[in-house]
Amino acid sequence: MNQYCYDVRRIFTFYYEAKQILAGEMPIPRMAILMPTFVCNHRCVYCLFREMNEKYKHSIETGLLMRVIDEIGDLGTKGIEFSGGGEPLTHPGITEAIRKTIDRQLKFGVLSNFSISNPKLLDLIAKNASYVRASIDTFDGNIYRVLHRPGGKDGLAQVLDNMEGIIRIKQNENSELQVGVKILLTKLNYKNLTRTIEQAINMGFDSAQFKVARDTEVEIGDKQTIDEINDELSQIRDSYGKRIKVLGNLMEREIEKTGITRQCWLSPILIVITPTGDVPLCCYYQEHFRDPSHIYGNIKEQPLRDIWYSNKHREAIARINIEECNRYDCRWHIYNEILYQALVLGKGQWEFI
Ligand SMILES: C[S@@+](CC[C@H](N)C(=O)[O-])C[C@H]1O[C@@H](n2cnc3c(N)ncnc32)[C@H](O)[C@@H]1O
Ligand code: SF4
Repeated sequence: MNQYCYDVRRIFTFYYEAKQILAGEMPIPRMAILMPTFVCNHRCVYCLFREMNEKYKHSIETGLLMRVIDEIGDLGTKGIEFSGGGEPLTHPGITEAIRKTIDRQLKFGVLSNFSISNPKLLDLIAKNASYVRASIDTFDGNIYRVLHRPGGKDGLAQVLDNMEGIIRIKQNENSELQVGVKILLTKLNYKNLTRTIEQAINMGFDSAQFKVARDTEVEIGDKQTIDEINDELSQIRDSYGKRIKVLGNLMEREIEKTGITRQCWLSPILIVITPTGDVPLCCYYQEHFRDPSHIYGNIKEQPLRDIWYSNKHREAIARINIEECNRYDCRWHIYNEILYQALVLGKGQWEFI
């Protein structure tokens, strides 16, 4: 099992950049999250983006998508995560975009529902990506239909077929591709997670990430259910943790939510580009979705480099609101705290090895 890419301590590799931030400088963003489109072929009941997806069918125009990948490479950024917004693999220029990413020798990952029927694209991804994460949520076709509300008739069967194909390529090529399944827990799919993990192991997934859906009518609200889930997940990790990496905020007794008490100072780890071309501070701050004052530029109006190093970017960081950050379970909550303790408070004693 590849343990390194799941290790939260990899935030320590951001040491020099974190020092730059503390010195008032803007570092090179390590990664980009690129959302090519708000269009989606599913209508997941829980989806935070659904209203926006249905209302604004924005996509980045293909020429601009190509240009922005070049600009990401020129910034010195190392990797791109293709995500949503909507469903990235439905963008008409996605194959070209992934080819360009490979040509530029950028690493990439894909977050997708993996429902598309496009074997050539899946092959390209399987042979070149660093990681893929499929938002599947359940291996039960009936629950899947109600939860994801897929457009096509094949539903879960198509998704599982696609994932089997990707895992087969990984195994044939003996590659380091990390194949993950995301299980977003709602009132509809939290039961029998042991069966879910067994199915993920049988299919050959490397990791399973459990997270709780927030801000939705199907959010699991009651403490008793949450305790039951926590107990089952603890058992799952004990029994299956050697065969599959079990991830998620739920894992650390967990459902209490992650959170921060100090203003987020590590947003410059990443640059985010939305389907409207907006550049917000992070995934949780987006047009029509969160405070627009957190958007500090648009790629249709300015080169990416100018946006990144602008005063507007610094001003947006200064406006970060802890309460807004704490509405979701964000990885950055943990990164902020680890580097604060180790670097700012000096607990890491990094003058020595
Ligand atoms: C919006 S989707 C976009 C990419 C792709 N369509 C997919 O489903 O993976 C990205 C992630 O947002 C998560 N998400 C959507 N609604 C959520 C909610 N209410 N609470 C927490 N996470 C949510 C989904 O689990 C999904 O993995
Ligand atoms: S597949 Fe992703 S973007 Fe589409 S509705 Fe579901 S969570 Fe939202």
